[in-house]
Amino acid sequence: MKKILVTGGAGFIGSHTVVELVNEGFHPIIIDNFSNSDPSVISNLEKITQKPIVCYEGDIQDRPFLEKVFEMEGDIYAAIHFAAFKAVGESVQFPLKYYRNNIESLTVLLEVMEHFSCKYLVFSSSCTVYGQPEKLPVTEETPRQPAESPYGKTKQICEDILEDYIKSGGGVSVISLRYFNPIGAHSSGLIGELPIGVPANLVPFITQTAAGIREKLTVFGTDYQTPDGSCIRDYIHVVDLANAHVSAINYLEKNNESPLYKIFNVGVGKGYSVLEMVNAFETVSKVKLPVFLGDRRAGDIEQIFADTTKVENEMGWKAKISLNDALKDAWKWQQNISKK
Ligand code: WQD
Repeated sequence: MKKILVTGGAGFIGSHTVVELVNEGFHPIIIDNFSNSDPSVISNLEKITQKPIVCYEGDIQDRPFLEKVFEMEGDIYAAIHFAAFKAVGESVQFPLKYYRNNIESLTVLLEVMEHFSCKYLVFSSSCTVYGQPEKLPVTEETPRQPAESPYGKTKQICEDILEDYIKSGGGVSVISLRYFNPIGAHSSGLIGELPIGVPANLVPFITQTAAGIREKLTVFGTDYQTPDGSCIRDYIHVVDLANAHVSAINYLEKNNESPLYKIFNVGVGKGYSVLEMVNAFETVSKVKLPVFLGDRRAGDIEQIFADTTKVENEMGWKAKISLNDALKDAWKWQQNISKK
């Protein structure tokens, strides 16, 4: 079976991708330093896949450690790189931590992959690189705006590194997936989003409010130029997003004549407002949410959602899971972890 290195594989998107890689017949090898994930995810992955899951605890910036993993595993076929810090607000507070971690980890990984002739890389990018687009929906050709945060800048810098690397004749083919807003959880209820502390993201805050962990949900701004005044985003089920990574590996395998670098938007292709998300959650959960209509949150853009033509036509991938099912899965996961 082909071994796929999954950096940050114990994280929210990484763990769901490990499940889909196993389903596709690949052999995932996780590296995680558990700085933003929990070791219990590994045993839950084994329960879901009914297979032993290999995980090395460590930091991929640590080159000797990473080389050791490649040596011990022998023939790593491809890599998917999730390991990065991703909290927008935290990146404003601690920019150096974000620049060092998010950029250094990519350059070390690429150098080690070159050294071990590991030819395929899927990189976790983000719609944050677009900033507030003038025209919607955004395509991959939509010009990037100055990022709103150091986090967003690290994603733009990493995309530039990949572009320059391929132009220089680098031997690793790369696909960057620009994620929109990942939500939901695996249908088993065994893995899902595990925000540390107070959730910054909307859906975990909604489910924690519904579970009584948070007193109320504050809607950050209802005076935007949108139909109901609240911000619009493209919310994609994390399992659909996970499958986009499997499709990207298959795409790289099929298009292996010479090293390539391609960028794909990975979203549903439809936008929902915060108030629409609140209503949808109340419908699927039958829980009335205590909502406070608050001020805007600094750094938020008004609206963004994806044009997914390119990923559908070139990679043959399309999101399948509905918003209601995503919210149902998120709520099931929250109820499970609230029971513990
Ligand atoms: C969505 C909307 C909030 C919480 C960020 C990163 C992005 C990606 C996903 C990593 C916004 C509103 C939120 C709340 C609210 N992360 N909201 N009350 O900011 O679109 O994207 O997370 O890749 O890169 O930028 O996601 O879920 O934080 O917010 O009203 O308690 O929900 O204002 O309009 P965001 P989010």
